[in-house]
Amino acid sequence: MSQNISLTRYLVEQQRVDGLIPSQLRLLIEVVARACKGISHAVNKGALGGVLGTADSENVQGEIQKKLDIIANEVLIEANEWGGHLAAMASEEMEEIHAVPNGYPQGEYLLLFDPLDGSSNIDVNVSIGTIFSVLKKPPSDAAVVEQDFFQPGKNQVAAGYCLYGPQTTLVLTVGNGVAMFTLDREQGSFFLTQENVQIPADTQEFAINMSNMRHWDTPVKNYIDDCLQGTEGPRGKDFNMRWIASMVTDVHRILTRGGIFLYPWDKREPGKPGKLRLMYEANPMGWLVEQAGGAASTGTQRILDIVPQKLHERVSVVLGSKNEVEKVGSYFSKL
Ligand code: AHG
Ligand code: MN
Ligand code: MN
Ligand code: MN
Repeated sequence: MSQNISLTRYLVEQQRVDGLIPSQLRLLIEVVARACKGISHAVNKGALGGVLGTADSENVQGEIQKKLDIIANEVLIEANEWGGHLAAMASEEMEEIHAVPNGYPQGEYLLLFDPLDGSSNIDVNVSIGTIFSVLKKPPSDAAVVEQDFFQPGKNQVAAGYCLYGPQTTLVLTVGNGVAMFTLDREQGSFFLTQENVQIPADTQEFAINMSNMRHWDTPVKNYIDDCLQGTEGPRGKDFNMRWIASMVTDVHRILTRGGIFLYPWDKREPGKPGKLRLMYEANPMGWLVEQAGGAASTGTQRILDIVPQKLHERVSVVLGSKNEVEKVGSYFSKL
């Protein structure tokens, strides 16, 4: 792979080739990428930058916020307010939508993000990331409202994440496949390191938090139980397990070598359909996985078809290698 295709050049060439990236969207993606570079810099400072540990505040999810949750959130808000490409933003760390303040030009896009995914890994120096999703604001002259965000994931016009690991890697789709860019710290630029990412249709590796087994619904229990029986069981093959407790990192592994990721509904919070958030975790990750030839479902329906009713709506997530996601679905349809 030629090392000299920068993110900017890639976006300009994609814009020229297929018109999928109007200039406002190209600016949005470049601004988000630049913000992620800033977050990566803060992450890499760790204790030296005073970014570790918790802030003494709680977010709308009922989670105690980490300092880096708040820092990353603020970096993304400040980076995106002035550009004229956005009408509003929404984030895991903000109760309501954040409309572009008066005085700044309003754009036609809506940006959603999980500023820091995998927060429980921050203080133990394990990979974390930022997830983002872009929708178009419905055409209207009225001021942007929360309902403008309530669009199914199949309406996304761009989605991606930035993984803060041994490398800082930006992974992006605008609906024309998945591309990966690695940050060159000397030059301070992202360079194309993989194009047309493809997830193998089959896998022998699952990612789930096994400590929740007693809380799972029967189909999930049966699916995992069959996998654990290995070659002697109905699957006829052995499985490996990974659980990094950072969705960005688990999904990056799946985009890179295949696998299946499950965070299913469980009876700890029966009123909630799942732990993960639809609009800024499941939808962007689901679209990336589909664009790489994989699948993303709740176990019973395609995630990208769900029409949100609330900004911080949660959802049950099964995503990754297409045939394996369908296999999980067969356990639900046996009910
Ligand atoms: P966040 O840090 O943005 O709140 O998201 C954490 C999510 C996701 O990244 C991960 O897959 C999952 O929570 C881990 O949950 P458990 O700690 O329950 O395993
Ligand atoms: Mn959180
Ligand atoms: Mn998250
Ligand atoms: Mn988060």
